[in-house]
Amino acid sequence: MGEIIIRGMLPKDIDQVVAIEKICFSLPWSKESLEKELINELAYYQCAEDKGKIIGYMGMWRIINECHITNIAVLPEYRNKGIASMLINKMIEICKCSEIDRMTLEVRKSNSPAINLYKKFGFVEVGIRPNYYVKPVEDALIMWKNID
Ligand SMILES: CC(C)(COP(=O)(O)OP(=O)(O)OC[C@H]1O[C@@H](n2cnc3c(N)ncnc32)[C@H](O)[C@@H]1OP(=O)(O)O)[C@@H](O)C(=O)NCCC(=O)NCCS
Repeated sequence: MGEIIIRGMLPKDIDQVVAIEKICFSLPWSKESLEKELINELAYYQCAEDKGKIIGYMGMWRIINECHITNIAVLPEYRNKGIASMLINKMIEICKCSEIDRMTLEVRKSNSPAINLYKKFGFVEVGIRPNYYVKPVEDALIMWKNID
């Protein structure tokens, strides 16, 4: 692994991000949805790049002074190397510069790697959305974090 660059997602990255989605999720986002996200003024998307290859990405939407994390994923062979942490740190920086003071997300109740990741960044569980996910059906934990 070379030097990891965290940078804004560009239209040229979308095919690689779609490939990451297919590897990481049972209901991957389509190319069309990601294209729409890149022109949504309230959406922020960041990529992690290793020698020109996209190895992870993260997205969030701004809703007034809050951000809703839409997705975060890292290719399996690059996990446990701090890549997701770099992406979250970048998003927190963006929030701080944009007067956003709270972040929220939903996560599958069984997704311990992601729940641990969020807890490490100070997200706390505040509730459950029953049967929120399909493929397989599962409850979502709702988590929030205040940005100091
Ligand atoms: C969740 C995910 C993004 C983590 O990416 P990552 O780059 O491996 O995460 P990091 O290396 O930055 O790990 C940061 C922290 O996350 C937690 N974590 C990461 N992988 C973990 C695992 N397999 N088991 C338990 N905790 C884990 C740990 O607290 C870790 O901190 P530590 O290294 O000090 O123990 C990655 O596993 C992934 O892409 N999963 C599939 C997609 C997904 O489920 N996305 C979340 C949707 S809500």
